[in-house]
Amino acid sequence: MKEIINGLSVFLEGDSKNKSIIFLHGFPYDHTMWKAQIDELSEKYFCVTYDIRGLGESPVGDGQYTMESFVDDLETIIKELKLEKPILCGLSMGGYIGLRALERMEEKFSAAILCDTRADADGNEGKLKRAAAIKRINTEGLAPFAKDFITNCFGDNYKQHNKEEFEKRIAKSSGFNPVGVKGSLLAMLGRNNTTEYLSKIKTPTLVICGENDALTPPAVMKPLAEKINRAEFVIIKNSGHMSPIENPREVNDAITKFLDRL
Ligand code: MLT
Repeated sequence: MKEIINGLSVFLEGDSKNKSIIFLHGFPYDHTMWKAQIDELSEKYFCVTYDIRGLGESPVGDGQYTMESFVDDLETIIKELKLEKPILCGLSMGGYIGLRALERMEEKFSAAILCDTRADADGNEGKLKRAAAIKRINTEGLAPFAKDFITNCFGDNYKQHNKEEFEKRIAKSSGFNPVGVKGSLLAMLGRNNTTEYLSKIKTPTLVICGENDALTPPAVMKPLAEKINRAEFVIIKNSGHMSPIENPREVNDAITKFLDRL
């Protein structure tokens, strides 16, 4: 079922009386990246996902977003749907939103699942890369940027064996509004560093990382997990940055085992 909340396209699956999980997608994707998780987990959980402002079906508005405004949107959705301490599950940019949401209002969540993400903010090199991406989108249009960015996200195994799905992902993201994509790049460029908060997290946390993730590799994610009290760290085999799409079986098993233990 789809609902519009504060202008955003929000997708609901499962029985609303069950414990809820709210899924936050990565950049430059949309809610459909969580399909394999929601198909399975919605039998036991109330699964909520949405298109982050500027991406997918959600409105672009003025294209001026901050990580804070993304967290505001998350907070509004939780409030409007009256979700009682949902489990937070975010990948990459969704993880940035999740980590800042924990820092800002940890009491609102009962558990956290952080997939292929990082706590540090963009350094100088990262900021310049975002600026170059915006310039490229302005001069060449969105498609060449989306193709290169998405190609770097997925591991070789997925790209070789799921050519059609992979091409569809690129085509879908290439059709997003460039204003929304550039706004997301600026929001990521301007985000705060949540590393200091990691050691303060009390919420049970699962950290998931694709073994061949080129953007947030295990070398980045293992130390992140080690800073969080009693966090579980799981490496997903045969997977790049998009582990929930690339190896849904292992990701779903890791999530299910973690949630069963709560
Ligand atoms: C994502 O998957 O959300 C992006 O890789 C995040 C980023 O560009 O920092």
